[in-house]
Amino acid sequence: MSDKKRPIGLLDSGVGGLTVASEIVNYLPAEEIAYYGDTLHLPYGPRLLEEVREFVFVIVDYLLSEKNAKAIILACNTATSAALKAVKEKYSVPVFGTIDSVTKRAIKESHNYKIGVIGTEGTVNSQAYQKSLLALDRKLKVFSAACPEFVRLVEEGRFAGPKVEKVARKYLVGLKEAGVDVLILGCTHYPYLVPVIQKVMGKEVTLISSGEAMAREVKNILKGNNMLIEDKGEEEIKQQEFIVSDQE
Ligand code: DGL
Repeated sequence: MSDKKRPIGLLDSGVGGLTVASEIVNYLPAEEIAYYGDTLHLPYGPRLLEEVREFVFVIVDYLLSEKNAKAIILACNTATSAALKAVKEKYSVPVFGTIDSVTKRAIKESHNYKIGVIGTEGTVNSQAYQKSLLALDRKLKVFSAACPEFVRLVEEGRFAGPKVEKVARKYLVGLKEAGVDVLILGCTHYPYLVPVIQKVMGKEVTLISSGEAMAREVKNILKGNNMLIEDKGEEEIKQQEFIVSDQE
């Protein structure tokens, strides 16, 4: 198989990374992907970051050796917080995480310099977003909240309704009171809940998620490395593979 024809490997604990995968398919329609949902170990959020890092290494090994992936996307903020640096150091293929691609955009969108971040406990406790944001601009005020129940609701396919709204209010009230004008959805499961989150935060608050910014970054870097399949605009049958760990 030529280098370019190899798939792009993505991983998440479950369906969250599909919000990134769909943007990759939009931006890079000629590419094949191999998506790994680690449903056996879902949720990642409450686990120790060291444990998540171990899972990530096993999955990346699998995507590289079994699927011959040409690049790896950690389509999960918890995995990015836990393992991006270590994965970049260990492997020679391009590796992408969710956090840095989105913080620049968040700053650009904010007018009052108050930025909210929501994510899993693992991501919020790691302070990865604060560090990334403050490294870009020390004047920012960053407010974060962990929203652990969101992942379970999304995995159960419950995206709307009074129960979901109640949970969202509980998590978001503090950020609303803080007056953030941008809210980073720092978990790839959360874009499924955008209508509810937007309703609770109000339409004046800009919601930002990683998918699109990551897809743009992946496109630029792989193009620069001459690793992209040329898109001839023809309909070809592509292999998009989806693997889950609790059904192997
Ligand atoms: N979707 C993941 C994230 O972005 C993980 C959710 C979880 O398993 O707790 O953090």
